[in-house]
Amino acid sequence: MKVVRAEVLGFCFGVRRAVEEAKKALCENTSTVYSLGPLIHNESVLEKLGKSGLKIINEENIEQIKNESIVIIRAHGVEPSVINQLKNKNCKIIDATCPRVKANQKMVQKYSSNNNHVILTGDMNHGEVKGIAGYAGENFHLIQNPEEAKRLELKDYAEKEIILLSQTTFSGTEFEEIETILKKKYPSLTVKNTICPATNERQQALIDLCKNVNGILVIGGKSSANTKRLFQIARDNCKNAALIQNKDDIPSIFYTLETVGLTAGASTPDDIIEEVENTLLLSYNKKL
Ligand code: F3S
Repeated sequence: MKVVRAEVLGFCFGVRRAVEEAKKALCENTSTVYSLGPLIHNESVLEKLGKSGLKIINEENIEQIKNESIVIIRAHGVEPSVINQLKNKNCKIIDATCPRVKANQKMVQKYSSNNNHVILTGDMNHGEVKGIAGYAGENFHLIQNPEEAKRLELKDYAEKEIILLSQTTFSGTEFEEIETILKKKYPSLTVKNTICPATNERQQALIDLCKNVNGILVIGGKSSANTKRLFQIARDNCKNAALIQNKDDIPSIFYTLETVGLTAGASTPDDIIEEVENTLLLSYNKKL
């Protein structure tokens, strides 16, 4: 059996940074370290960090955080009001907001300060979108799909600038569709494609990998949107595809294939990928 990894897979820069910050904080402090919301979309990483003392607390329960606690802001970022609440409690804030998300927050803040129209493509339930929205003014418009773009009606748009930007993990194809719709309605639209290349790089590497293997294992958390999208691509491009969280989930058929391809979502750590790879190779060696 041959096991081939996708050229790009696993942790993206922002998630790796957030996990490293959390580990460092846990090593350096004996008191509880809080993460505002799940630090990453991966159960096993969260479990390990939890055993080392990381406590996840949702933003709605922020009042439960004791004064002067240590709090990590995850890669998705948070709205400024949350930061202010933590500052009022004299908490030590470890800001692991991904620099790409931070750039989006700053751009929204800058354009909103002049009362311009800011249009963000994204998912209303996503933490990053909620955080970015907190930096916006009253002319902020969230667009989740092309249908909503068609329905958008901007008031006084001739006198104001209109800017379009995106949640970093939004679909590139949908963004382009929305851009086309909005450009027809508002020709002066300024477009800032702020989709993070990390998502696209993993997807493209997977499409390339599918051409050379008999099956694909997508490794990642079931609640991770980018992992689910990778699985969808794998199913569309490969006869055998499975979404697994770790080595224990490998379906039996994969042990019979000649070449197995591996990819992993942006929240999947290196050791889980290695475990899956070693389990496949070990079972093959045992058969020899
Ligand atoms: Fe940042 Fe891109 Fe990852 S925005 S958190 S590097 S997917």
